[in-house]
Amino acid sequence: MNAFVTSLMSKMTLEEKIGQLNLVTPGGAVTGAVVSKDVDEKIRKGLVGGLFGITTGPEIVRKAQEIAINNSRLHIPLIFGLDVIHGHKTLFPIPLGISCTWDMDLIQKSARVAATEASADGLDWAFSPMVDIARDPRWGRISEGSGEDAYLGSQIARAMVKGYQGNDLSKYDAIMACVKHFALYGGAEAGREYNTVDMSRIRMYQDYLPPYKAAVDAGVGSVMSSFNEIDGIPATGNRWLLTDLLRKQWKFNGLVVSDYTSVNEMTAHGMGDLQAVSALALHAGLDMDMVGEGFLTTLQKSLKEGKVTLAEIEQACRRILEAKYKLGLFADPYRRMNAERAAKEILSDQHRKTAREVAAHSFVLLKNVNQVLPLRKSGTIALVGPLADSKRNMLGTWSVAGDWNKSVSVLEGMKDVAGAGANIIYAKGANLSDDTTFAKRVNVFGTEIDIDKRSPADMLQEALDAASKADVVVAVVGEAADMTGESSSRSDIGIPESQETLLKALVKTGKPVVIVLFNGRPMTLVWENDQATAILDAWFGGTEAGHAIADVLFGDYVPSGKLTTSFPRNTGQIPIYYNHKNTGRPYDGTGFPKFKSNYLDVSNDPLYPFGFGLSYTSFSYSDLSLSQKNISPNQKLSVKLTVTNTGNYDGEETVQLYTRDLVGSIARPVKELKGFQKVFLKKGESKEVTFTLGVDDLRFYNNDLKYIYEPGDFKVFVGGNSRDVKEAGFTVSAK
Ligand code: BGC
Repeated sequence: MNAFVTSLMSKMTLEEKIGQLNLVTPGGAVTGAVVSKDVDEKIRKGLVGGLFGITTGPEIVRKAQEIAINNSRLHIPLIFGLDVIHGHKTLFPIPLGISCTWDMDLIQKSARVAATEASADGLDWAFSPMVDIARDPRWGRISEGSGEDAYLGSQIARAMVKGYQGNDLSKYDAIMACVKHFALYGGAEAGREYNTVDMSRIRMYQDYLPPYKAAVDAGVGSVMSSFNEIDGIPATGNRWLLTDLLRKQWKFNGLVVSDYTSVNEMTAHGMGDLQAVSALALHAGLDMDMVGEGFLTTLQKSLKEGKVTLAEIEQACRRILEAKYKLGLFADPYRRMNAERAAKEILSDQHRKTAREVAAHSFVLLKNVNQVLPLRKSGTIALVGPLADSKRNMLGTWSVAGDWNKSVSVLEGMKDVAGAGANIIYAKGANLSDDTTFAKRVNVFGTEIDIDKRSPADMLQEALDAASKADVVVAVVGEAADMTGESSSRSDIGIPESQETLLKALVKTGKPVVIVLFNGRPMTLVWENDQATAILDAWFGGTEAGHAIADVLFGDYVPSGKLTTSFPRNTGQIPIYYNHKNTGRPYDGTGFPKFKSNYLDVSNDPLYPFGFGLSYTSFSYSDLSLSQKNISPNQKLSVKLTVTNTGNYDGEETVQLYTRDLVGSIARPVKELKGFQKVFLKKGESKEVTFTLGVDDLRFYNNDLKYIYEPGDFKVFVGGNSRDVKEAGFTVSAK
């Protein structure tokens, strides 16, 4: 590779070298626009390194590649990227949903399916995984990540990278992953999109950076810099971040791409004009400039003026050429464009089946009183709510290549799964929101919030009529697909008022009300938790959402999802996360002791804690035992327990292990996830589950940012969520 790239670069002009750093998109209307005049012309002149955003299939991609190969001076292939985030055309649940499977095999499989489809469509590069830790559900992009925990987030990052890239990037069905948004993007103040991030180094290292590092360690081919600032310097121009940390400490040797115009945006951050910020970014270690063309238009001038060096330009160019080389593009620039394979594999029965399975595993049962779920496949069911028959909203945010027409609505899924035995009466019942201004803001990609011609009162009456004839009401409510995702922050994270009115009226009928919730973020559900008979959190389940929801509602799959984010009781509790510190005045949760760390008007605990999720069956935990009470630094401890399925269904449980470091040189969290295992138990069955713990599991970043463990006393907790646990203690000796 080195010899090849060196030889190629020796033939390249300065302009062509800078051209490689230029990543462009044909933009909005992608059909045909890819060969639009100026992109076309720039490709011919060698002024484009890659294209992204083409969703129209292999033929269009091929056309663009042909221009580069046949008409540019050095015939250097383009690299083609896309936001393949939770599937390509077969959509899986949104990432936050998929994380709730806690199942690394399934997660890896979903990325493999995505890569198979995307590569057939001509794509080399997925702008995923997004691994930003988020503790603020007001932030719309919490939907794109894996929740609040760095340990779980790291495992998921690894699984996604492996799924996309496989073992050999040059394979026709492997695509390069891009871990993003480096770094700390999820720490935006007040949950407001693109807002300032400011956090201590210890928090960065301990709680926010591990998933990016896990992706790097798993061999991710590329990294995307984030929009936010870090210690006052935007990530895209932050040399400490992109060079000292990423390349020197973490030994990353792939390519770094900016986020969409994040080079240019450094001007608004107050870092100087386009020439200045472009030089800043290059010097920081950024290789590829997404869309903004600051590199293309200013680097030659900066070189002349001594503001950047030729070595810096060449280094960036080399990294891009290396990525293309590793992807096998010099050997065959058309290897990932395969119309025949696209026709056969995209949205294949097999892929849809996998999507259905993964979706069913991602749903989290939040409440289920009187065993109202699973439903019987007989009797009369009133299926109501604005999301009950809305194909438009099944896929969720960032499903750019997805066709919502191909998705299965809840109504269709219920009918398919229930068969002829059940009578399903559908009524919309309410609009997602009655607020036309709000609807307009959400509907930028199409009519997701579809305000009905009928009056809210008429719709409600129809729903109540349906309910009156039914044995049970299933209300499918929540958020429209683009109420989360980029630029979709909310200050109120409850169910919109129009739907609350519907729910209240339904509850009043006295019929059991099962809420199926669509959401891209934790929502405030105190009233719903109080009043509904059951709540199933279905996130946005993807192409097969409707089938998967029906599978779970009717008990063909017993739910096993567990939350990866805490659900606050109200927005005032935010940020709320399970691995918080104790403070000097901890509150034990009883009464209102004055001068403790608490609120006058709400408790400290979340409504649903991290790790929480019910099943149709129940599990008991017993016989927690440790192999030793003391371990030395070179010993390992076994933590054993018995888990028993005490209910009436076979089911899967995610057994979670947490630790607490009781005394440290810095204050340590009250709990930290250190392990989990998914076990399948037949009803009545017991299994012994064993975890192994050693000092490497107890390491943390101390005040000098050294990753160390400290001898002393520890607690270990096991349970089915972060709140309801059994505990034991052990000591790590100094020697
Ligand atoms: C987003 C990225 C995305 C990029 C390209 C940006 O606005 O922040 O996550 O990969 O656009 O579409």
